[in-house]
Amino acid sequence: MKNSRIAGVGHYVPEKVVTNDDLAKLMDTSDEWIRERTGIRERRYYNPDIDTTANMGVKAARMALDDAGLQPSDIDFIVFATLSPDYFFPGPGVTVQEELGIDTIGALDVRNQCSGFIYALSVGDNFIKTGMYNNVLVIGSEIHSSGLDFSNEGRSVSVIFGDGAGAVVLSPSENNEKGILSTHLHSEGKFAKELCVVAPSSSGHERLTEDMMKPGGLIYPIMNGNYVFKHAVQRFPEVISEALKHNGYSPQDIDVLIPHQANLRITKFVQETMKLSDEKVISNIQKYGNTTAASIPIALSEAKQEGKIKENDLVCLAAFGSGFTWASALIRW
Ligand code: ACO
Repeated sequence: MKNSRIAGVGHYVPEKVVTNDDLAKLMDTSDEWIRERTGIRERRYYNPDIDTTANMGVKAARMALDDAGLQPSDIDFIVFATLSPDYFFPGPGVTVQEELGIDTIGALDVRNQCSGFIYALSVGDNFIKTGMYNNVLVIGSEIHSSGLDFSNEGRSVSVIFGDGAGAVVLSPSENNEKGILSTHLHSEGKFAKELCVVAPSSSGHERLTEDMMKPGGLIYPIMNGNYVFKHAVQRFPEVISEALKHNGYSPQDIDVLIPHQANLRITKFVQETMKLSDEKVISNIQKYGNTTAASIPIALSEAKQEGKIKENDLVCLAAFGSGFTWASALIRW
């Protein structure tokens, strides 16, 4: 059994920058409120004429393929994580297969929201470990801006989210000291309704109604912010510790922590709990907001570009989100 390793990383963010002041023109909010509560200064919003969740994923994937020195034809399998697919079905994995012009390989879509990228990474990692596939493309991509409630009723949620995509190429590692050492996945479905979008759905909300589309309507995300915060600051350290313990490491062994960019206050809380210095913790939520399944691969790609990840570094990825779900991955780079 061979470990998989991250052979290439890439990301794509739409050009349009939306600042906190821009949002304050649409709803009763302020730059100060958003920065103090979340750390976010601006986010990117997609251009409906050129961007879709799938094709933003393709752009990130092309960069990851270049970084890995591979061609689309080298990819054996695609795993695509998103909560904002182009269509209700099919999922965007098949569009990536088509747009990259890859032969008729398998494409799997993962619905695990903010933890989606690590779940998808775990799937790809295990396909490589078992020898079923050689090179797996793992993508996280989201368009949130088209589904947010920009009225005062939705303001505590809509200021948080942004659009973007990130991707990695997984390939077999030369030795088992390196690559993805382990992944750890959890869920607790009793909290499903604390952070969700209800409609349209097959749970009695099959047909869209006028009411659903009004401010505060069921087509918009519902979030119990305090609840999410409380659970996130418990589960992040837990799942990071689980990965470290599983591999015989302690928090001080971490060289780089890339948490899902949920909220800067959550990241700071986790950093303090794990007693990690600022240089070890990657944060780019200030620029992009929370891009759910895309946030970790975007941060990973930028961190690599900026030289923040070096050969042999112990890199930990961790996420918490809707479901609730939470997950971690420990990687020897
Ligand atoms: N601008 C100005 N005022 C606002 C805004 C806004 N955007 N949103 C809410 N308010 C107001 C509320 O109406 C309320 O006013 P009131 O006191 O007059 O009733 C006041 O601010 C406080 O509201 P709370 O909801 O209690 O605000 P809180 O301080 O809890 O902050 C927040 C809200 C930022 C969502 C916080 O709960 C939080 O950080 N939660 C974590 C959730 C999170 O990070 N989710 C990320 C997505 S999920 C994930 O990725 C894991």
